[in-house]
Amino acid sequence: MPSALDDRLKATLDSRKSRQMLRQLDPAPPASSNLVDFSSNDYLSFARSPVLRRKLVDALATVDDGTATPLYGPPSSRLLDGNTPLHASLERRLAAFFDAPAALVFNSGFDANVGLWTCLPAPDDWIVYDELVHASMHDGMRASRVPSERRRAFRHNRVESLERVLEGIAARDEGVRAGERSVWVGVESLYSMDGDLAPLREMVDAIDRVLPRGNVHLVVDEAHSSGLYGVRGRGLVAALGLEHRVTVRVHTFGKAMACSGAVVLASPLIRDYLINYARPLIYSTVMTHLSALAVVKSLEMLEQGHSEAPAAHVHTLALRLFSRLSSLLPSTSSVSLPPHLVAIVTSPLTRVTPHPPTSPIIPLLTSSPRPLAAFLRTRGFLSRPITHPTVPHGEERVRVCLHAGNTVREVDGLCDAVAEWAREEDNRKSRTTGGERRREQLQAKL
Ligand SMILES: Cc1ncc(COP(=O)(O)O)c(C=O)c1O
Repeated sequence: MPSALDDRLKATLDSRKSRQMLRQLDPAPPASSNLVDFSSNDYLSFARSPVLRRKLVDALATVDDGTATPLYGPPSSRLLDGNTPLHASLERRLAAFFDAPAALVFNSGFDANVGLWTCLPAPDDWIVYDELVHASMHDGMRASRVPSERRRAFRHNRVESLERVLEGIAARDEGVRAGERSVWVGVESLYSMDGDLAPLREMVDAIDRVLPRGNVHLVVDEAHSSGLYGVRGRGLVAALGLEHRVTVRVHTFGKAMACSGAVVLASPLIRDYLINYARPLIYSTVMTHLSALAVVKSLEMLEQGHSEAPAAHVHTLALRLFSRLSSLLPSTSSVSLPPHLVAIVTSPLTRVTPHPPTSPIIPLLTSSPRPLAAFLRTRGFLSRPITHPTVPHGEERVRVCLHAGNTVREVDGLCDAVAEWAREEDNRKSRTTGGERRREQLQAKL
């Protein structure tokens, strides 16, 4: 007999299903499926890199049983028995590589964001954030001590909107104007659903214009830009030379670095504070040695420049994909590219330094993301439909993620398949509307 709990949970899930919002764990396609990966976050194709694999296998072979660095464990929080030399040396290497004063490793990017946002802002500080920041930042901000009336969103990537929000805060709060209270600004460098880059330099300039006393602290989540921007993949902040104007950077290891975990880059003081107050760090088992070793090897790939050619290839593919799709799609109403991508294709500045404007994430906007993704699958391409609530209603899409392992031929094939589906979808729609019109005319006659 179902309990009241069963009834409630089932009713909620049924309602989600009826609105086509039910999330399910689809089995990952087996490697033997031969589907071309246009879906995972393995941007540099490190997950399949024989060089990285060899590095890890060699490192594992040198770890003796029962030594100070066993592979499993340490089964303990970092604050108890988990602070091993391997973790400490990984953090020193990360700080040196990213040119940061200090580094603190977390088990995931989600933990890092929740940990830092919950504890760094004081109750009378302000939090300002891009409306499209990741769920983990939202969770951290909501769980922070800053009440909701002191948390303000600004329009996605719109510097003038950020400026207006900051001006509003400055007008209301004398403590902020005097530099006595802090404003925390949360952004991502590359947005995972739209594939657009934050105008970080313009944001820093806007902050300095409105509140020049150094009490606005920019926190940049570089989850999707690690490995792809900046010299040796140090990220967008480094590509723009803004390391010293950004208070906190978060790089995650689960995307281009093909591992798991994350690092918070900040001052030694902030690091000490997080060690004392960031609950996901304090009350969780430290990253295992096995995982830490995998991160060390992936970092070594970046340090030795093994990301440079793959990253350049990804940007070349991205430009090819934008250009090809923008010439194939204008005649269709069923799929479109977002305006920022169209701007990249038409801009004469496309190849300017200090970083390429292209991104490995390309959203194909369509009101029928599931049928498009299913069609692409029949053509051998794996990409995922993204629907509400992950994106707002009316902004459904198929998200294409490019990888260093993708070939020009695969990208061209994908573009052709998208265009083919769009043509068929246009025809289907016009047949449907034609049929409807005829039915209406018939009914009018009766
Ligand atoms: C922007 C951003 N931040 C943080 C995270 C969380 O990182 P992790 O997967 O390491 O928990 C993600 C993951 O999708 C992300 O896209």
